[in-house]
This record gives sequence, structure tokens and C-alpha cells, in this order.
Amino acid sequence: MAFSRILVVDDEQLVRWSLRERLSAEGHDVVEAGTAAEGIERAKDDIDLIFLDFKLPDGDGLQVLRKVKERTPDLPVILMTAFSTIESAVEAMKLGAFHYVNKPFNLDEVLLLAEKALETVSLRREVVALRSSQGRDYGFDAIVGASPAMTRVKELLAKVAASPASTVLLTGETGTGKDLAAKAIHYNSSRAARPFVNITASALPEQLLESELFGHERGAFTDARQQKRGLFETADGGTVFLDEIGEMTVGLQSKLLRFLEEKTFKRVGGLADIRVDVRVIAATNRDLEKEVKAGTFREDLFYRLQVMPVVLPSVRERRGDVTLLARFYINRFNGEFRKHVRGLSTAAQELLDHYAWPGNVRELRNAIERAMLLADRELLEPQDFTTLTRTVSATHFKLPAEGVDLEEVERQLVVQALERANNNQTRAAELLGLNRDQVRYRMEKFGLRQT
Ligand SMILES: Nc1ncnc2c1ncn2[C@@H]1O[C@H](COP(=O)(O)OP(=O)(O)OP(=O)(O)O)[C@@H](O)[C@H]1O
Ligand SMILES: [Mg+2]
Repeated sequence: MAFSRILVVDDEQLVRWSLRERLSAEGHDVVEAGTAAEGIERAKDDIDLIFLDFKLPDGDGLQVLRKVKERTPDLPVILMTAFSTIESAVEAMKLGAFHYVNKPFNLDEVLLLAEKALETVSLRREVVALRSSQGRDYGFDAIVGASPAMTRVKELLAKVAASPASTVLLTGETGTGKDLAAKAIHYNSSRAARPFVNITASALPEQLLESELFGHERGAFTDARQQKRGLFETADGGTVFLDEIGEMTVGLQSKLLRFLEEKTFKRVGGLADIRVDVRVIAATNRDLEKEVKAGTFREDLFYRLQVMPVVLPSVRERRGDVTLLARFYINRFNGEFRKHVRGLSTAAQELLDHYAWPGNVRELRNAIERAMLLADRELLEPQDFTTLTRTVSATHFKLPAEGVDLEEVERQLVVQALERANNNQTRAAELLGLNRDQVRYRMEKFGLRQT
């Protein structure tokens, strides 16, 4: 236990003395007061805990308690009473006393009670500090971007956070900040003090995902040896972030839809309807509308999610933010790596401004991180961004005088990349500075055979 400042309010000198002896032996700093008025006065001195006598020469302990609680509701007060009546004890607890002890008291017990009170306070302070620091990390300020596209999105996110909307759909390419946006919505909503739970649909096979979400009863399936609460129950009052919703099986999609519409669900193998109040934020980097057409995503679920859609723009749609993001991450990594990088050279700036950023902010962040780990200059240079050099060569493509058929050029490049990568779509994607979904999309668009 850390050393604390404890105030003892009692008109009997002997009581004050014995408490002081014992508490200071434990390393605490003890302040004394002999009257109610003095007690109220001394309670202002940055006190961590008060021992308060019930009967004081100029009033009773309850008056002091009331005054103290008005000013510092979290300050714990232990009331000491010589003739404990139930009423005064009840009254004291109602007024927010931490506890009460009967006089004459056992000093060991009193000490134990003091420790408990001080521990409760420090835990409470810790929780408050933690929550507010989480809030700070996930405030809208943590979402860097001042471009018109990003400003609009931030305004929309703030509105969504404040709204009672029970479902939200976040879409956008990989690395555009969907995770960040989900946390910003939660921590800026009235649900902030309740849990934020996060689950990725693609991470688990269907049956496991179902029992993660909805929980299960004992014996529901072979491995279900015990009853288990699902995430929807755990998050009651808070937010469930369902990432990569596009990967969810159609069977589970209908169970999710039923839950979204009725707000109730059954545990796997259970009969009872369980009602919870959660906001579901779903996210995907896929084009759900296309998945609906392809029959892999339920149309009704799509429309249910579409009630509150937020599209996170790609970096290409907000090029103006590249400099801002780069500066943000240079600052961050200066702190983390104890470096003193001042910024980008003109050539490096040029490179970042024209790069395609298929991995969006995540890629930009990684590029800066890597560059700063390696660089020992004040300004980052293009050669510090070796992973991006593809675009440097891309700048050598010269538009022929007669112009080109861009679609045809694109088609040929995709074909060549697939050939060179032996039809490995991930490797082809790397060659083109795209992600796998983007390559697949183009293969479909150009009618290229999937192998
Ligand atoms: N606007 C932004 N400002 C600052 N950092 C950002 C921003 N957007 C994204 N980031 C950072 O980029 C990284 C990737 O973001 P995030 O995980 O939110 O992307 P995502 O959209 O969920 O991607 P995926 O679809 O791959 O899951 C994280 O480190 C995140 O903090
Ligand atoms: Mg994500």
C-alpha cells in the first residue's frame, strides 16, 4: 500500500493518539482535528481517507460527512460511533460513508479497513485514468486527416457515435482505418464505459464463431463441457465490432440478422431467449453489393447493415492527407525510436505524393517506420523507402503521342503479372502494387480464368 494522508476527526485526544500511532507506524501521514468545523477545514488538505467520530462538540459526524461528500464524493470516510444505532449507520452509508466501526475498536481491524478503503480509491482512480486515456487514444483526433473527404467522414463518425443507431457498416480498402473508426465510435458514444469487443469473422470456423458470438449451453456439442457466455452477452451495454463480415458464412449471416432485428438470441443448444443491448459495428474491405449479387452475402442482412454506412476513403482519394499522415508518424516514431528526423526531402515527398498506396494508411505507416529505423539523416530520402520504389519505375511509363487504351494496358499488365507469378494471385498483387481482392476484381472484370 502506498503512503497516504489520513485525517482523524475526534474530540477525544486518546482516540486521535492511538490512531495516529498505529497509522504512522504503517508509514501514513496523519492529520488531526478535534471539532466538526476543524474537520471540514482540514478535509480540504489533499486527504486520502477520513476517520470521523460520530459525536463531536460542535455537531455530529453526519454533517461533516455530508460536507465532505459534496466537495469530494470519492474521498472515503469511515465513521466511528460509540453507541452504534442502526439508524445512524444506515444514514452514514446512505450519505456515502465507506464503512463504520464501533467504539471501542480493535486497531488491527481498523487498519485492515483503512487499507481496503485506500485500495478501493486507488483502483477507482486507476479505472478512471485508464478509461479516459483509452478515450484519448481513440478520440476523433486520433484519426489523422484534414482533406475534405476525411473531414466529412469524421463528422459522420461523430454523428453515428452520438446516435442511437444499433448497427453501423464500415467499408473501405484494407488499411483505411476501419478498426480505428470502430473504436472512435465506441469511445465517443454513451457506451464508452461499457465493453468494446472485437471479433474477426474469418478467424474461426463457423461453429466456433457462432458459439463465440452467442455462447453455448453445456453439452451443446462435443466439446461444450461447460456453459459459456458469448460476446454479445459480455458486451451488453457496449459495442461488438464484427470485422471482415464479408467472410461470414451464409448460415451465420441469417442468425446475425435475426439478432439485429429482434435484439434477442439463443445460446447454441439453448432454449431461452436472451435479450441484450449492444451496438454492432460491422466492417469489410470487400464490395458487399457484389457479394450480394454473387449470392455469397444475404441481401436482407446487407440492407440491414446499410442503414448506417460509413465509407473510409482510400489514401488515393485523399492525397492531401499524405503529408499530414507522414508528419504524424514521423513524430510518433521520433518518440518511439529516439530519433530526430525533421521530415521528408523534396524528392521523398514527391515519391509519397505519387505512390498508389494500395495498403493505404497501414502501408504508409509501415513505410515511415521502416525508413526511420534505417535512416540517420535529418530528412528522409527516397532511398529510405525501398519498398515503394516500384512507383519510381512507374514514373518512367511515358504516354505515347497517339494515346493508349488504358483498360487494355491494365488488362495486359494483369495478365503479365499473373504469368510471372505462376498464377499466384498474392504474388501478382505484389507485382502490381495491389491487394489480392483488387487483382481478383480485375481478373473478373477482364474475364481472366481463375486457377
Ligand atoms: N486516419 C488515420 N490516422 C492515423 N492512423 C491511421 C488512420 N487510418 C488508419 N490508421 C492506422 O493504420 C493502420 C491500419 O488501420 P486499420 O487497422 O484501422 O485499418 P482497416 O481499415 O481495419 O484495415 P483492414 O481492412 O486490413 O482490417 C493502423 O495502425 C491505424 O492506426
Ligand atoms: Mg481491420
